[in-house]
Amino acid sequence: MSQELLRLTGVSRQYGRGETAVSALAGIDLTIAAGEMVAVMGASGSGKSTLLTVAGGLTKPTSGEVVIDGQWISELSAKQLAVVRRRTLGFVFQDFNLIPALTALENVTLPLELDGWRARDSRRAGMDALASVELSDRAHRFPDDLSGGQQQRVAIARAVVGTRRLILADEPTGALDSQTGELVLRILRRRVDAGAGAGAVLVTHDARHAAWADRVVHLQDGRIVGQTSQGTAEEALLGADR
Ligand SMILES: Nc1ncnc2c1ncn2[C@@H]1O[C@H](COP(=O)(O)OP(=O)(O)OP(=O)(O)O)[C@@H](O)[C@H]1O
Ligand SMILES: [Mg+2]
Repeated sequence: MSQELLRLTGVSRQYGRGETAVSALAGIDLTIAAGEMVAVMGASGSGKSTLLTVAGGLTKPTSGEVVIDGQWISELSAKQLAVVRRRTLGFVFQDFNLIPALTALENVTLPLELDGWRARDSRRAGMDALASVELSDRAHRFPDDLSGGQQQRVAIARAVVGTRRLILADEPTGALDSQTGELVLRILRRRVDAGAGAGAVLVTHDARHAAWADRVVHLQDGRIVGQTSQGTAEEALLGADR
């Protein structure tokens, strides 16, 4: 198991060509280690979502290299890349993106089923993941019967189920009220701290939410213009007590 979950080296991404070309990312160098949660902040259009989709192998960089858990993405076939996405990566979106016709448990185990897991094993892994987000008692509910915060926790469970370790979350608290958003972040934080080798990249507009991360990366016009390391929110709270 590699301690380095993600490495971007000199990553650029252009959309379009010629006069109308947009440079969404320009020379990004970024590394995420296991046990690390990194927040990405920046104005609308600064390239945050593009950064996540490139980091997750969903968008090809125009130049530069992406290495996910030791695998050079540019050297993988489409099929091999799909396997990396299913086994290593979990995406969490602003609007949860759960399948309404599937229960919470079925939503969580879907990537395992697609990967050919036996029903019993995927069920067990799915229940473990739901337990880690404190939703064991909602496993057989459908998304419509869950609150927004619960739906987002299901999405986090799906992002970490089985062997998935790199969580890429694009404004996962955007559709939640601030208290529910904090709860979702606390669960994400706990998951990264659990010692299972997980790491997370979290896009957020909210500085209070970014405070849950170990490091904040500031993007502007597709470039990293600043990085701040910080203690976890818990350490910050402890510090305030002293
Ligand atoms: N599919 C696309 N085709 C063309 N241009 C795109 C595409 N996706 C993004 N862009 C452009 O790339 C730049 C970065 O977009 P991106 O969505 O990564 O920004 P963002 O920081 O996530 O913004 P927001 O905070 O609004 O979500 C923007 O100028 C955007 O218009
Ligand atoms: Mg975006």
